[in-house]
Amino acid sequence: MKDTASASPESLHTGPRNRRQGGGLRSGCDDESRGGAIDSDPCGALSAEPPARAILTARSRIETGRLIVRGFTMGDLDEIAQVFGDPQVMWTKPDTMTREQTGAWLEDALRRYSSDGMGECAVVLRSTGRVIGDCGLVLREIESERLPELNWDLRRDMWGNGYATEAASGVLAHSAGLGLRSFCALIKKQNERSGRVAARLGMKLERRVEWEGGTWDMWVIRCDRPRSVVHGEA
Ligand SMILES: CC(C)(COP(=O)(O)OP(=O)(O)OC[C@H]1O[C@@H](n2cnc3c(N)ncnc32)[C@H](O)[C@@H]1OP(=O)(O)O)[C@@H](O)C(=O)NCCC(=O)NCCS
Repeated sequence: MKDTASASPESLHTGPRNRRQGGGLRSGCDDESRGGAIDSDPCGALSAEPPARAILTARSRIETGRLIVRGFTMGDLDEIAQVFGDPQVMWTKPDTMTREQTGAWLEDALRRYSSDGMGECAVVLRSTGRVIGDCGLVLREIESERLPELNWDLRRDMWGNGYATEAASGVLAHSAGLGLRSFCALIKKQNERSGRVAARLGMKLERRVEWEGGTWDMWVIRCDRPRSVVHGEA
């Protein structure tokens, strides 16, 4: 789920402003980062605090068969603004986002990397080098629980190729390798395509939640290290 209302960094930020990351900043998806020094059950319960380490940052780079999921930079503004400016992509949202609103969203995403240790990342199609959407984790406060929310959006002409599932699978494997145990996705009931992505990832529709004035299906996955569901990578 993407925040769009006014798209100001203040209104978009739901994570703690004074959170400090612990040591162990890592990027990429190497074996050491997957296997080493996992905090003792850092996010084993949905109500648990996120781990005090960086999960997704500006330096993150997750490679899958056809995609690279990497930290956003402000240089991605033109391409991601095309995605959020399309009414077909934003059909479950109140409105499309202007370039200016997308710029504020991007600045907020970059801020979350350091304040929350996680955030939205760019999804790049390897064959073209173009940004085709976003996928990542956003720390949410939902019904008094702080949860990492997995989300995804793709440029309209990229739907139907398995890219969202592939990107999210990579993010799940990477983040589980760094110690996150539980993930949720907030999906509108009518967003069947998005629900199918969650189901393909192995997420379960757990319950319906009230969040920011709306009702959402909350999909959840708890795992040590999720298997990759496409191409056997990540
Ligand atoms: C949600 C969204 C990212 C899903 O896109 P998607 O293309 O349906 O999902 P994927 O990229 O995982 O592709 C899966 C589809 O590609 C098909 N596919 C085709 N080739 C494939 C391949 N090589 N590998 C895997 N799947 C493939 C699958 O069968 C599947 O189709 P199905 O769901 O009809 O069975 C996209 O609809 C979107 O951006 N929507 C607007 C924004 C939005 O709603 N975001 C989520 C908010 S909660």
